[in-house]
Amino acid sequence: MCGIVGATAQNEVVNLIVDGLRTLEYRGYDSAGIAAQNAEEVMIRKEPGKISALQNSLVKNPVSGNCAIGHTRWATHGKPNRENAHPHVSGNAIAVVHNGIIENSAELKQLLVNCGYRFASETDSETIPHLVDLYLSAGNSFFEACRKAISHLEGSYAVAITFANEPGKIIAARKGSPLIVAQGEQGFMVVSDVIALQEKNQIVYYLEEGDIAEVSADNCEFYDSKGKRVSRTGTRLGQSECVATKKDFDSFMQKEIFEQPEAVRATLARRLVNGKVSERLFDKGSSAILDGVENIHIVACGTSLNAGHVAKYWLESVAGIPCQVEIASEYRYRNPVVPPKTLFLSISQSGETADTLAALRFANDSPYLGSLGICNTNNSSLFRESEAAILTKAGVEVGVASTKALTTQLTALALLVLKIGELRNTPDAVLHNIADALLNLPSALDEALKTEEKIKEVARSISRHKSVLFLGRGHHYPVAVEGALKLKEISYVHAEAYAAGELKHGPLALVDGSMPVVVLCPENNLLEKLSSNIEEVKARHGQVYLLADHDISSQTCRGAKNTIEFEGGDSFISPIIFNVPLQLLAYHTAEFLGKNVDQPRNLAKSVTVE
Ligand code: F6R
Repeated sequence: MCGIVGATAQNEVVNLIVDGLRTLEYRGYDSAGIAAQNAEEVMIRKEPGKISALQNSLVKNPVSGNCAIGHTRWATHGKPNRENAHPHVSGNAIAVVHNGIIENSAELKQLLVNCGYRFASETDSETIPHLVDLYLSAGNSFFEACRKAISHLEGSYAVAITFANEPGKIIAARKGSPLIVAQGEQGFMVVSDVIALQEKNQIVYYLEEGDIAEVSADNCEFYDSKGKRVSRTGTRLGQSECVATKKDFDSFMQKEIFEQPEAVRATLARRLVNGKVSERLFDKGSSAILDGVENIHIVACGTSLNAGHVAKYWLESVAGIPCQVEIASEYRYRNPVVPPKTLFLSISQSGETADTLAALRFANDSPYLGSLGICNTNNSSLFRESEAAILTKAGVEVGVASTKALTTQLTALALLVLKIGELRNTPDAVLHNIADALLNLPSALDEALKTEEKIKEVARSISRHKSVLFLGRGHHYPVAVEGALKLKEISYVHAEAYAAGELKHGPLALVDGSMPVVVLCPENNLLEKLSSNIEEVKARHGQVYLLADHDISSQTCRGAKNTIEFEGGDSFISPIIFNVPLQLLAYHTAEFLGKNVDQPRNLAKSVTVE
């Protein structure tokens, strides 16, 4: 999604902005631009395509200044061309970069056109500089003009605004989209993601909903949406929060797949004590949020939603608690019924996914027992707006396709299941088995990573096909769904997942000698049923690829084109482990097809718009 990097300092900042934009490339974008300001003028450069195009343009036509705002745009309103790229200007004096969507832009545009403004782009964002200009023309100060302009915006926004007549000043504001002000040695920065901060040890201020900040090289003042001065507490940025390198790996995604044992270890650390879940599970609030819980509603998007689906199987079978899992964009618009004593549980890597946040806000106004968030980003909107929160300790995830975030979400969910099991008197023996299996999870993941070379062979043949089916049963069904999602998002090979028992209710019609069918084959009580489903595929000459527990029977494997055996682990943690070969399969298929695995087309890392 779009990214913002602004800086005002005692020294030249253009390189700082370009370097910051580069670190945001992973979020997905299709054009980039910068507005630099010195005492005499505001200079704009913007280009469609990659940041390298913007850099080439800056080589030909350099800009300089001690104050600048930069942007990477992920197109929503209008094509990814130069006109629609940010910054947008009014009268060549006011420059604005914007993340989010202005929902009433058509109305605002009409009003501004009636006042004589001409629009150079198709974007909703261009309404903002013209609105600021309108209020400046009416005699307002720069800050007041921005505040009044922003008060008209409906939808979501994070904005940074500069004005030629006030050199060195940036007005920053947010609602529904993250924005951070950071104080460094040379001045201040305004960024949409801490990863864009080049200098470590900065003091960062996370703007709250509706906040406006008036930022200059040596000072920053915070105001609420009514213009009342407020104080915001800064926190010092740790090294790990802003460092993201590929190390010796070919891509961030590959590195993140191999970081999973460590990420899971960090997520478990100090949370399981003598087989019991400690209060340290909660990074905000406490286990009191679970008191009297009788139902759970899980809401999330994409991969995080798939984690929620696995948790439903766990919660109902281990803790005996009814659980409903729902896509956030559906949930938020359908007036869900909330049974008494229901906990709302949202899951999000970024903590900034627009639909998940909207669902959380709805839940916070509904008669839930409480809202609990599972999230990888401390201080994200989801973390701040949930009553209680559990942080996954995956570290920064740069690859657009979620890998270590998912495994750590599942780990956190497993701990939560244990905690709820403890409260609901699940037999100790069951809970101890799960606790032991979780402690063994990092080494089990290490083992699963050893399948890489064999998976490459499967990936080579999958990469020759246009479409793939994934099958699973029980709590491996959502894992099959995740495997299909991963494959399609980074390799662009069409993939669908089915609960294996559903095969003969429709999808079996697709199976012939050219259809690869990837089957998740754990050793559990459903294996016999699954074996029958595999026979149905073989009978239609489908190409069966089995990802299987070491000890499954040779009868099941007979006739499969390829079987990859590994230690799937205890039945409870097995869905976590089965993710690993599926991630490797997607990764290597995409590699064989020459795709950009870290930045797949059309996708963004953090989906901050609806
Ligand atoms: C897929 C993927 C997405 C995200 C989804 C939700 O690999 O990464 O499907 O899982 O956009 O994002 P978060 O978890 O940040 O809310």
